[in-house]
Amino acid sequence: MDFNTIIEPFRIKSVEAIKFTSRQDRIQALERAGNNIFLLHAEDVLIDLLTDSGTGAMSASQWGALMQGDESYAGSRSFYRFQSVVQNITGFRHIIPTHQGRAAERILFHTMLAPGDIVLNNTHFDTTRANIEVQNAEARDIVIAEGRQPSSLHPFKGNVDLERLEQTLDEEGEKVRLVMATVTNNSGGGQPVSIENLRQVRQIAHHYNKPFFLDACRFAENAWFVKQREPGQQERTPLEIAQEMFSLADGCTMSAKKDGLANIGGFLAMNDDALAERCRSLLILTEGFPTYGGLAGYDLEAIARGLEEVVDEDYLRYRIRSIEYLAEKLIAADVPIVRPPGGHAVYIDARAMLPHIPPEQYPGIALTTAMYTEAGIRACEIGTVMFGLQPDGTEKPAAMDLVRLAIPRRLYTQSHIDYVAEAIIHVAKMRESLRGYRITSAPAVLRHFTARFQQVAE
Ligand code: F0G
Repeated sequence: MDFNTIIEPFRIKSVEAIKFTSRQDRIQALERAGNNIFLLHAEDVLIDLLTDSGTGAMSASQWGALMQGDESYAGSRSFYRFQSVVQNITGFRHIIPTHQGRAAERILFHTMLAPGDIVLNNTHFDTTRANIEVQNAEARDIVIAEGRQPSSLHPFKGNVDLERLEQTLDEEGEKVRLVMATVTNNSGGGQPVSIENLRQVRQIAHHYNKPFFLDACRFAENAWFVKQREPGQQERTPLEIAQEMFSLADGCTMSAKKDGLANIGGFLAMNDDALAERCRSLLILTEGFPTYGGLAGYDLEAIARGLEEVVDEDYLRYRIRSIEYLAEKLIAADVPIVRPPGGHAVYIDARAMLPHIPPEQYPGIALTTAMYTEAGIRACEIGTVMFGLQPDGTEKPAAMDLVRLAIPRRLYTQSHIDYVAEAIIHVAKMRESLRGYRITSAPAVLRHFTARFQQVAE
């Protein structure tokens, strides 16, 4: 008998208490934080859906592996174990550990890009974009049209727009230095990219002699969607699908804080010997010797085990289902969300939910502050605050104003998620009373992390 209930494929050996606060406590905490949920003390948050990055629960096997860490400065056993696991999945010749994903990005872009260069990607994540722009290069998003429409149903909304890829390479060929695909496409709703699309991107990029890299943070979740949705992929294991995804690329950047199931870490990987040598030189300057790259030996052990666990079918079935479960509850209550739901998060369409708040008054901030005030839930704006500031200092509304409920891996149970759904439906019912915000102070780059906000007068 196959039962329908998909249960957490683990039991809990160690618990951590979470703190309940009053509505009044939360109003005061938000005030201290300038209405920016990034500036809250995490202790004052009941359910933290700010990110799925580094916030997951490690397994007993990973915790045990920490004691196996070899902390030798050079040639540590833990590095070779890490390297062999990463190579088994990715097949790349050069595996360069970094302290997290953005360090891999910085090293790659600093090594490859000159001012005026262009990087193409389905949708650049914020740190990816910032690491390109800091080189005075351009990060251009070329996701398919469906990927920019929150309610349009498409099995692979993360796919790269192949026509725009070819057209851009035709028109700006000299300037395009690198073609990327982010799997899954985080800034576009955690949406997957099909193997077929990756195959074509590779073919086009190589036709124009451009390297093709994956931003592979959530490669296992992408592989699960491929297994579920792409014709002909049903009989393959997630590992086999992941191996094919990587085989289509020339390299990748990776944050092990997502599908590495670790609390810290990342890597840069590639086949090009000369490029790898230049990247390693920069690594030594800023991260560390090439066999530890800013990580402790025990981190390398935790990541190696995490990468083995993340491609487990029972884990991935539960993981993707748990996101879908929350999405179904919100859809049933007519809360507008990006559909179909992504692999690591549910994205509420704050612009559609709060049509009375214009993008310039940040509907995403109105929603995140209300969710915290009402229920102690922390979620992240992915919209005009995150992407609206242009390099020339002007502001324009982002393509979408989303609020992301990112679900940390293996951390919360189904009843936590039931609470989240109930709370959001409550906030949706009071939507007309929510008001917009304006920025009172902000830094020049990556402003969403530290900007302060004030509610606009009625
Ligand atoms: N690429 C993507 C697609 C990401 O989602 C992230 C991080 C990075 C690169 C950078 O990796 O954090 O290890 O330096 N995303 C986190 C998030 C922070 O909340 O989505 P990192």
